[in-house]
Amino acid sequence: MSSPSSKQTVFVLGGTGTTGSSVVEGLLESGKYNVVVGVRPVSISKPEVNELRERGVEIRAIELSNAPHELDAALKGVDTVVSTTFYTEIDKQVHLADAAKRVGVKRFIPDDWASPCVRGVRRLYDEKAVIQDYIKSIGLGYTFIDVGIWAAVMLPSDKEEAEDTFMPAASHAITGAGNVKNAVTHIPDIGKFVAEIIDDDRTLNKYVFCWAEELTQNELWDIARKAKAELGGGPLNASPVYQSEEALLEKVKATEDGSWDQIGYEYIYSMFVRGDNTVENAKKPEYGGALDARELYPHLEVSSIKDAAKAIYQK
Ligand SMILES: NC(=O)c1ccc[n+]([C@@H]2O[C@H](COP(=O)([O-])OP(=O)(O)OC[C@H]3O[C@@H](n4cnc5c(N)ncnc54)[C@H](OP(=O)(O)O)[C@@H]3O)[C@@H](O)[C@H]2O)c1
Repeated sequence: MSSPSSKQTVFVLGGTGTTGSSVVEGLLESGKYNVVVGVRPVSISKPEVNELRERGVEIRAIELSNAPHELDAALKGVDTVVSTTFYTEIDKQVHLADAAKRVGVKRFIPDDWASPCVRGVRRLYDEKAVIQDYIKSIGLGYTFIDVGIWAAVMLPSDKEEAEDTFMPAASHAITGAGNVKNAVTHIPDIGKFVAEIIDDDRTLNKYVFCWAEELTQNELWDIARKAKAELGGGPLNASPVYQSEEALLEKVKATEDGSWDQIGYEYIYSMFVRGDNTVENAKKPEYGGALDARELYPHLEVSSIKDAAKAIYQK
């Protein structure tokens, strides 16, 4: 555990993104870390980067395609690397892992942040697994972190129109009977979990699963309706669009290899047909044998999905 005089320095790659912002916020709120955020040169003057600077966060320019000595310089003095970068950058993390190994980083958290699965089901999961294997192969300390599925992805948008997309929030699609449980997390809680995990020797060289509630799609829709009712702005405007498991499978098959749609539909298939995204599965050896973050940190206040829904619909 860190003492106030020996704060860990944590380098967050992609700290302006959705996951990265939550991580940076969690680290800053904890008061336990020196936070460094790695941003691409193209983003160095973005308003959100300037806001971080104003809050005392050190900004370092970095591209994963940089020369080794430049990557080493970006990680100088860093104890922990947290990668929360864009999905197209996954394979390039080997260069960052090599640099981390060279400069003596103690723990590397690669860009996972998803739902538990086994290999051979989701292309993006498999790409992330290659990076996990690589990190282990070079003897770099690590923690692999998954967070289930974001509440913001699962709760239906408060709009009448449904879109033709894989994302349940926008498509309003309920797959099958809507009775498959999924582990759901509110995005702002991700950083709170991370602030605990990286100050904890028990999680070094382990896989940790973070989650708030396990809910079916039917339960999520009930929560959405109740949250809207409690906010007092009229009923939820969305209506469910039912899709059969077979129809979903056809959509998975119709996607182009390597496309964004493939990532999305494979994810939905894994969650709603295979039922991969549960705490019980995450703990199984074939899923990586996760430690349960809720058991590790029982004191941590995690948002209920109803409160998450209220926050989302209030915006
Ligand atoms: N569990 C879930 O429900 C869920 C949902 C969505 C995503 N995820 C996962 O969470 C992880 C992070 O995704 P995210 O959605 O949080 O990230 P994001 O918001 O899309 O982007 C993160 C950051 O990546 C950087 N970046 C680097 N190369 C980029 C490029 N070519 N184009 C755009 N941005 C680029 C950008 O930072 P700079 O511009 O500052 O460099 C950006 O802010 C991924 O592994 C993803 O699969 C999980």
